Amino acid sequence: MARQIFLGVNVDHVATLRQARGTSYPCPVHAALVAEQAGADGITMHLREDRRHIGDRDIERMAEMTQTKLNFEMAATDEMLEIALRTQPADVCLVPERREELTTEGGLDVVRNRNYLTDYCGQLAEAGIRVSLFIDPDDAQIEASGAVGAPVVELHTGAYAEAGLDMADELARITHAARIADELGMIVNAGHGLHTRNVTAIARIPQLHELNIGHSLIADAVFSGLATAVRNMKRCMQTARAMV
Ligand code: PXP
Repeated sequence: MARQIFLGVNVDHVATLRQARGTSYPCPVHAALVAEQAGADGITMHLREDRRHIGDRDIERMAEMTQTKLNFEMAATDEMLEIALRTQPADVCLVPERREELTTEGGLDVVRNRNYLTDYCGQLAEAGIRVSLFIDPDDAQIEASGAVGAPVVELHTGAYAEAGLDMADELARITHAARIADELGMIVNAGHGLHTRNVTAIARIPQLHELNIGHSLIADAVFSGLATAVRNMKRCMQTARAMV
């Protein structure tokens, strides 16, 4: 029988919308609870160094409120280590971070940062936090991830999502990488740029355990929810006018 596949819902973009107006809504914690009710297997959030969407308070409230599994994406810095050790999420996914990027653009270079990451992953593991490394689907990065002691890798599917005509090549890279990581005994997740039109081929890769998806889910939610939101507003206005 095929292994199960799980969905981690990334709620960063709900916070992006909130920050765009400096209001208290929409709340990413509320979004996480809705996602859990709808069947999400876990909630992912990225506390960026510049706090452009998720904030420190979101992290604390998310840790208190969520019922599934919290996956905390972060850069491998001292500040983030301290926050992770205090918040105690089930999983931490280490990602590269550059201030000027719109989103996480490439995988972590585990090969070049072996010593640093060995120590960093060790501190998280000691605290009982499962560490995942967000890497490109590349043999050397997978082997290095195993060597630094990460029990989980998340394969970056961004190149696949943007490949256009080269999609088959990118899919082959991810398929191969998932098999290699699985053979090394690691749990293999994947994510970035996945939507309902490109997820099927990825979800068919038997070794993949969890897919982390954010942008397309929030984008779809706008359209599946906009008609209701407009109807609600119209009803409020007409009810008010009827009382005049
Ligand atoms: N996985 C990781 C490690 C990410 O950094 C992101 C983006 O924050 C995702 C998954 C989700 O990507 P997307 O928002 O494109 O679905």
